[in-house]
Amino acid sequence: MGDDEVLLVQHVSLDADAEDGPGISVWTINRPDKLNALNSEVNDAIIAAAKDVEKNDSVRVIIIRGAPPPTAEEGERSMPPAFVAGADISEFVGVDSKQIRKAFKADPWAAVWNISKPTIAMIDGFALGGGCELALACDIRLASTRSMFGTPEINLGLIPGGGATQRLARLIGYGKALEMVMSGELMPATEAHRVGLVNHVLPPEQLEEVTMTLARNLASKSPHTIRVAKRAVRAALERPLSEGVRFERDEFCALFDTEDKEIGVQAFLDRSDPEWTGN
Ligand code: COA
Repeated sequence: MGDDEVLLVQHVSLDADAEDGPGISVWTINRPDKLNALNSEVNDAIIAAAKDVEKNDSVRVIIIRGAPPPTAEEGERSMPPAFVAGADISEFVGVDSKQIRKAFKADPWAAVWNISKPTIAMIDGFALGGGCELALACDIRLASTRSMFGTPEINLGLIPGGGATQRLARLIGYGKALEMVMSGELMPATEAHRVGLVNHVLPPEQLEEVTMTLARNLASKSPHTIRVAKRAVRAALERPLSEGVRFERDEFCALFDTEDKEIGVQAFLDRSDPEWTGN
């Protein structure tokens, strides 16, 4: 892993003595001089990383973050912090509908959305356009107080294309989503928290620690059960209520055939910590 790579992938093991053991995959989008904008190289790297984590049983949780700004040389302007300031606008110049549709064959938002394991966006700074959409493609969003959210595509003569119109409307409601998408105005983290766009807002210096604590919590659950939990809640987005409740019931019942249900129930009765098998 070199510092010049556009996506840095780090495995943080739950057990410091077993580097490759079960743990958290931390992805850092690494284009700080462009506020971590998503160019095609980053998109391809995200898609590849999403495929890898599905295959790798030791990855329990994924955290996505942006690289911090480089230290400014004397006399130079310092860059603001950014999660991701959007799709790379320089790749839009002269592109027509056929070409952009083709570019969507590499769809990082779908790749992240379709990961079966828990995903957390750790946001410090701008989360705009495709960056806001990348955060929306994650399950949980934690943001620093200095973060800003927005879908400013309208100012480019565009609308969001990575899912924001749909995911925002479901997450924060139709009215607020329309306001964001049509005005292009930026929303401070406190407001994003108030409307439910982010789960937690924290001082910048606490963001990493709190995110890791949450990730460790999720990573400590049965990897099988947590996937089922994600699938069941996701069903609420796609299905009518009665069908969704039936889906939940089927998933709940199926868990009664797993080893991890016996292990979890027995550990509760024995007052011990469960040692999940993932089966
Ligand atoms: N695509 C490509 N480059 C981007 C970018 C994006 N989405 N967002 C920022 N950058 C680049 C800038 O071009 C600049 O590069 P340069 O120094 O080589 O010129 C660098 O990142 C720093 O950005 P800059 O605009 O100088 O910082 P700022 O502090 O003045 O403003 C923002 C910060 C976030 C308000 C501003 O960068 C911005 O509006 N970005 C675009 C947001 C957007 O429309 N996103 C949706 C895209 S679909």
